[in-house]
Amino acid sequence: MPISCDITEAGTAGPGSVGGYLAEMALGRLGPADVVVLPVGAGGQVAGDDALDRLLGRPAADVVAVSQLTGKPGQLGVVPVRAGDQQVKVVFLGIGDHSAGSLRRAGGEFGRMLRPGQIVISTVTAGEPASAVQTFCEGLRLGTYSYVEKSGPRAGEPARAPLVRMLGSHNGAGEAISGASIFANAVSLSRDIANTPSVAKSPEWLAGTARRLASETDLGLAVWSEHELQSAGFGGLTAVGAGSERPPRLIELRYEPAGASRHVVLVGKGITFDTGGLSLKPGDAMKTMKTDLAGGATVLAVMTALGALGIRHRVTGLIAAAENMPSGSAYRPGDVIRQYGGRTVEVLNTDAEGRLALAYADSRLSPDEIVDIATLTGAARVALGSSYGALFASSEDLAARLLAAGEASGDRLWRLPLPEDYRPALDSPVADLAHVARDDGAAAGAISAALFLREFTGGRPWAHLDIAGAGRSGADHGDLSAGATGFGTRLLLRWLLG
Ligand code: BES
Ligand code: ZN
Ligand code: ZN
Repeated sequence: MPISCDITEAGTAGPGSVGGYLAEMALGRLGPADVVVLPVGAGGQVAGDDALDRLLGRPAADVVAVSQLTGKPGQLGVVPVRAGDQQVKVVFLGIGDHSAGSLRRAGGEFGRMLRPGQIVISTVTAGEPASAVQTFCEGLRLGTYSYVEKSGPRAGEPARAPLVRMLGSHNGAGEAISGASIFANAVSLSRDIANTPSVAKSPEWLAGTARRLASETDLGLAVWSEHELQSAGFGGLTAVGAGSERPPRLIELRYEPAGASRHVVLVGKGITFDTGGLSLKPGDAMKTMKTDLAGGATVLAVMTALGALGIRHRVTGLIAAAENMPSGSAYRPGDVIRQYGGRTVEVLNTDAEGRLALAYADSRLSPDEIVDIATLTGAARVALGSSYGALFASSEDLAARLLAAGEASGDRLWRLPLPEDYRPALDSPVADLAHVARDDGAAAGAISAALFLREFTGGRPWAHLDIAGAGRSGADHGDLSAGATGFGTRLLLRWLLG
């Protein structure tokens, strides 16, 4: 159920409090509301409002105290009141320290209590800067995201979106709301692609989706077929895709604004389903593998939002799309494959399929910076869970800008090292390189995978985001919804804006 955000018609001249609004509404001077929501800060702080106190029959601060509301971000207290002849729910919403993260979480939790078609008057961001409007709206939109394919009488019917109207004047609130909507649309697109069941989602389906989105948003596009990949020497991608009846694709999206001086390449892992191949995953580990293209979905979603945000850099998005299946034509442990550019790689485990498609970005596109994003290793998930993506970087400056964008956007990163002494574990007796570590370094699975990727970045400033944990959420929580999270979308957009 989508949510719309808006500024109230009461605007700057109207009442600045929910009580004031309800009093005017009872007199028929302002439009009806089903819900009003006001903020509760850390320690249960709530702004006084005589009109509201009258409707509640006691001071709002007493309601907060009696209900034991602490102002924890996302905490909800609901009191029904009568305003004129209307029944209205007054919601006390915890926003903690008023930070962007708290407002996003609060937006998500509050959004989920709304019902289709409800009209909400909010003072949650009254008196806060316009950026607060943006983060609260983002939370509202993203916390209420869901992917469903249910049958039944109402299936397919779009639910009427609740409308949340922000009260109180904000310079730039209009732009803040459109910014929130560009960000939330992009994150929702990434989630949609990753949540789509793999029966419907082949590499060619992903290419078709990219084709449609590229023409809608004016991006250049090239798609390599399996034959073209073969003759161009993309040995990694064709090997990974060989076991599936649905052949691999390389998708290249180009955003080329006039006057751009910096060229950034984004590379996304686009495994449409990861069975592990012949090194087959156990059933439980396979259950979530429809989201193994989360990195690629995020690259596609980011590309579609660049124009709307007026990004001034040249950006190329590459998505290596393949389905990793076991079959008579699948690649095998022990195979030696030839990567794009000619280097040979010894395959030790066909489940480490995600690390085989980075060489092209460096040798053909000559970017100033490369950022790849991939659900690469279970080890990254074990290390950081789902709240942080793992960051690896060959450049201090790039790392610092990504970490800052992560904090600002809500997609938080934690940097892990690239220790040189783990690198020899990737030496192979038969090929230039083994693609998984043989010895001690193997314990640090996320690191050895990153060290393998680094080999194909030609010494350029490069960052790798391992989102095996952060790409999925087990439950609805704050602005996350169960399933694919779209992690990295807001982060990369924020970084590109910088
Ligand atoms: N797609 C998986 C990583 C993954 C695991 C993502 C759990 C999300 C949740 C990846 O292709 C994989 O299986 N990696 C192996 C590498 C190993 C064989 C060296 C892993 O992490 O176990
Ligand atoms: Zn995978
Ligand atoms: Zn795998």
